Amino acid sequence: MVEFALPKNSRPTPGKSWPKPASAKKVSEFKIYRWSPDDGENPRIDSYFVDRDDCGPMVLDALIWIKSKVDPTLTFRRSCREGICGSCAMNIDGANTLACTKAIDDIKGAVKIYPLPHMSVVKDLVPDLTNFYAQHASIEPWLQTKSPTPEKEWRQAPEDRAKLDGLYECILCACCSTSCPSYWWNGDRYLGPAVLLQAYRWLIDSRDEATGERLDNVEDPFRLYRCHTIMNCAKTCPKGLNPAKAIAQIKNMMVERQL
Ligand code: SF4
Ligand code: SF4
Ligand code: FES
Repeated sequence: MVEFALPKNSRPTPGKSWPKPASAKKVSEFKIYRWSPDDGENPRIDSYFVDRDDCGPMVLDALIWIKSKVDPTLTFRRSCREGICGSCAMNIDGANTLACTKAIDDIKGAVKIYPLPHMSVVKDLVPDLTNFYAQHASIEPWLQTKSPTPEKEWRQAPEDRAKLDGLYECILCACCSTSCPSYWWNGDRYLGPAVLLQAYRWLIDSRDEATGERLDNVEDPFRLYRCHTIMNCAKTCPKGLNPAKAIAQIKNMMVERQL
């Protein structure tokens, strides 16, 4: 049997336990992954105690509370705090999700927070999404047409517009791709569920006229065919989308164009 050895010093070590807020009546513990490229130290897990009567209900509220009141060096991304921008994606209580829509009360015991898995870490909870965004750009996610541009807008029938439901809502948070075992092992070549869902969103847009070129672009043993229908992507998507279904539909389009 093959044995895998983890790289030396790859396991986070217990870190600092920050003091509990004085006189707080309701306190929740947060165990948070910390790593900085600047200090040469190993990753560690710091413990923080949040005064719940002084903090909003979501995990992102607690992170902002910690950063404002306890430790300004704690680093994470966030913007909209409404589940729309996708920037606060992280691994909370063992699952990839958005910190701004994850309620603290839905988690039993200490709240464990790590960066999205299997990505290089820039700092603390901030993953390096350079490759993810380059893969998104590679599917050319914009309307492509050959017909003369109409005087007003490109029109679309309501029933064709409805085909984009379940796709256009994707906020590119990367929760799905970073939960996909195929993407973990082949993320440099496999496009992953988020980008393939986006590819399908343009493939079935009735206004788009580059369907053949788009199929050519993803028809590759690695770019498309590394999906093994494990379904982690659909399970974890915080927007309730189903990238695995979109991938299956791209595969169907590949078969149909051979007929
Ligand atoms: S499909 Fe869902 S999990 Fe994946 S990037 Fe889009 S919103 Fe995030
Ligand atoms: S269904 Fe496909 S894309 Fe989704 S997690 Fe599994 S292998 Fe990855
Ligand atoms: S802060 Fe925008 S999705 Fe969470």
